[in-house]
Amino acid sequence: FESHQKEVFRMTQGIRSVAVLGCGQMGTGIAQCIARDARRNVFLHDSDQKQLVRALQKLNAWAELQVSRNKWTEEEAGTFLKRIIAAGSLKDVDQTDFVIEATVEDFQEKSKLFKTTCEFLKDKPEVIIATNTSSLSITRLAETTDRPSRFCGMHFFNPVPVMKVVELVRGAQSTQETVETTASMAQIMGKSVAFVQDSPGFVSNRLLMPYINEAALAVHEGLASVADIDHIMREGCRMPMGPLELADFIGLDTCLAIMRTLGELGETKFAVAPSIVELVKERKLGKKTGQGFYAYT
Ligand code: CAA
Repeated sequence: FESHQKEVFRMTQGIRSVAVLGCGQMGTGIAQCIARDARRNVFLHDSDQKQLVRALQKLNAWAELQVSRNKWTEEEAGTFLKRIIAAGSLKDVDQTDFVIEATVEDFQEKSKLFKTTCEFLKDKPEVIIATNTSSLSITRLAETTDRPSRFCGMHFFNPVPVMKVVELVRGAQSTQETVETTASMAQIMGKSVAFVQDSPGFVSNRLLMPYINEAALAVHEGLASVADIDHIMREGCRMPMGPLELADFIGLDTCLAIMRTLGELGETKFAVAPSIVELVKERKLGKKTGQGFYAYT
């Protein structure tokens, strides 16, 4: 155990600053763990300034809550907040030693971002880029960068500060060192690591999305109400959230994007429930937009 800890320390000691690209709920949670658990500086970037401001407010509020609950002193909260730096521009990635991408689940959007990121990182070929994609091919994403050997999947779960595992996905060209450094990063962020193959949806979403989709189909068929389906799964199967509440929590646009990637497996069992497609079309994306399977006030 001690020698493992030493190895994790060795692999991560050169990483002083981490860039997080994308400040949605996943990016914000990832930043929180980098500053809180890994105790590294984190450069937060989002092309949408409002999203960046919201992320900073959320992290501030969380630190204040720790103080008001006597979990942290003012000084500890200050140290945590000082580690979080709003990146004025994407160019600031050149001041970091490790990059975690957590933007929308869209291949084209991610590859566009990687292209620009790599331009700013051209003098730092050693920097690893890890993607938090929940379903897309790591090998194909890696090919859109200038460093496929220093690229891999690092899939977190929502809420990131609470969920304790990361799916680590190796691309066809990822080196052993890339995988081990990324695994060590996950560990200093307080996560255990599960190694999975590069396949649509990896393990988590290969299993989770058909479950959510089946719940949406059950609504569509009038099997039971949204609330009753969730109630059954919470109280009868001890799920912390029902499947439809969970879909709203993840975001229905994200669920739909993942389900479409699972469709690449070419099996009819992955056909998407019409209610999910409809809700996304109406921009009822779940908790984040105030309406999904449920209404949020
Ligand atoms: N950020 C930070 N901390 C959070 C949080 C958040 N968003 N939400 C909850 N917490 C913390 C709370 O502060 C609390 O911590 P303290 O004990 O220090 O006070 C703790 O978590 C428990 O929270 P609550 O008591 O408020 O709520 P709860 O007990 O009902 O738990 C939950 C909330 C953890 C979200 C729980 O409902 C749960 O586990 N839900 C299932 C979530 C899940 O399945 N996530 C995976 C989604 S799939 C995914 O992410 C992958 C993908 O690719 C789609």
